[in-house]
Amino acid sequence: MLMKICSLAAAATMIAGCRSDRPTAPATNAARLTSAGPMNPALIAAGQTIFRFDTYGDQTFWTDTLRMHEVIRTSVSPATALSVGLKVDVDALPAAVKAGIQNGSINLNDPATTVALLKLGAVVGVIGQVDANNTLTSVGITCALCHSTVDNSFAPSIGHRLDGWPNRDLNVGAIIALSPALTASQRAVYQSWGPGKYDARFNIDGKNMPVVIPPAFGLRHVAREIYTGDDTISYWNDYVAITQMHGHGHFVDQRIGVDVNNPPELVAPKLAALRTYQFSLETPAPIPGTFDADAARRGRMVFNSVANCASCHVGSVYTDVNQGILHTPAEDGQDPAYALRSASKLYRTTPLRGLWHPPQLKGPYFHDGHAATLEATIDHYVQLQGLSLTARQKADLVEYLKTL
Ligand code: HEC
Ligand code: HEC
Repeated sequence: MLMKICSLAAAATMIAGCRSDRPTAPATNAARLTSAGPMNPALIAAGQTIFRFDTYGDQTFWTDTLRMHEVIRTSVSPATALSVGLKVDVDALPAAVKAGIQNGSINLNDPATTVALLKLGAVVGVIGQVDANNTLTSVGITCALCHSTVDNSFAPSIGHRLDGWPNRDLNVGAIIALSPALTASQRAVYQSWGPGKYDARFNIDGKNMPVVIPPAFGLRHVAREIYTGDDTISYWNDYVAITQMHGHGHFVDQRIGVDVNNPPELVAPKLAALRTYQFSLETPAPIPGTFDADAARRGRMVFNSVANCASCHVGSVYTDVNQGILHTPAEDGQDPAYALRSASKLYRTTPLRGLWHPPQLKGPYFHDGHAATLEATIDHYVQLQGLSLTARQKADLVEYLKTL
């Protein structure tokens, strides 16, 4: 059964619990879906700064509550930081520092070097304040922590920023688990997540089901965001900034029983620019040589007709969510448990984008990452729908998915 969930009137009622001053109304969304005109460059630039550097004041959590600054300055060397997936922005490094990393004169096993990198603003997604004695006095996080990586152009994990690309090396749980302020049982949950995953509902409902960090690119023409299609991009940006990053502001959604008020409001005024920046982030083009172009052409036919993937992955962004459709877990053969924690209780057909861009992007796939490879995603549908595909058709379909 397909569920028509978002005729404009129905959706307006559904989000009645949301604050009306936020740009989350479906009308805004519908308007932008039909107006694909140029975006304001000043707003894009402002949004980029917010996405990369704004903590919304979340230092009160990461510093005052979790005391991460103490752990970092005493025991997190750059080698340790890179091993849990943190990335370094080469463009923030002065020439002398680059030379020192290259010739080994900078000690990557010394936490003081991490503090120096934070002082330079070079650790992607982490904002540190360092005093005159080179003591780290506070830390906070930004959207870029999870939704940016680097191109490894200087060294592994050190390069130019790639905004919107999920950091699938990042072990957020292992990082939070370093905090001295956690109970043993909280720490065990954080340690169980592994790289590339995060549970954006654990601190709300106490359940432990981390999902794969998705890209924040390629969403300009996607009507509803997150795996469960709960609402628009700004709805989710507001949710995550206030309830997860612990930035300051007021987030309310009665559908999931969440009302977090942490004044002053530092998120709402930034949502429009932040959204514009995300809309400006295009899906990266496939890298020639990482797929077989002839096979991909054949695979397109398999996708569109033989396997009928396009019945759900439809249109230019490969999702039927723009037609107001979400799917029951049974329809997609997905575990219902994560959907049940969301507002929609359903799954959105994932807009297919950047599925294969090694080394940064190469799975895992589905919300819980249960398909390690593209082959495994196809096997999932073969089983679910009793498709009969030849080995050649499956291989062609994989090559096609690599081009999306
Ligand atoms: C700690 C890691 C983390 C941080 C920090 C974070 N996100 Fe996310 N983001 C996630 C995860 C995990 C999801 C998937 C949640 C879900 O679908 O239930 C997600 C989902 C999204 C999506 C939806 C993608 C899609 O396919 O629809 C967007 C857009 C997004 N985040 C933007 C942001 C922005 C903007 C910020 C800063 C305000 C931010 N995120 C901060 C982990 C993070
Ligand atoms: C009934 C609708 C439906 C059909 C038919 C369908 N999909 Fe999906 N697809 C979904 C939904 C819903 C999701 C999100 C599931 C989740 O994350 O739990 C998804 C997710 C995916 C993903 C994971 C994307 C990511 O970034 O994690 C891939 C790959 C995919 N589908 C490929 C296919 C292929 C190939 C076919 C045809 C063999 C197909 N789909 C047929 C609804 C469908």
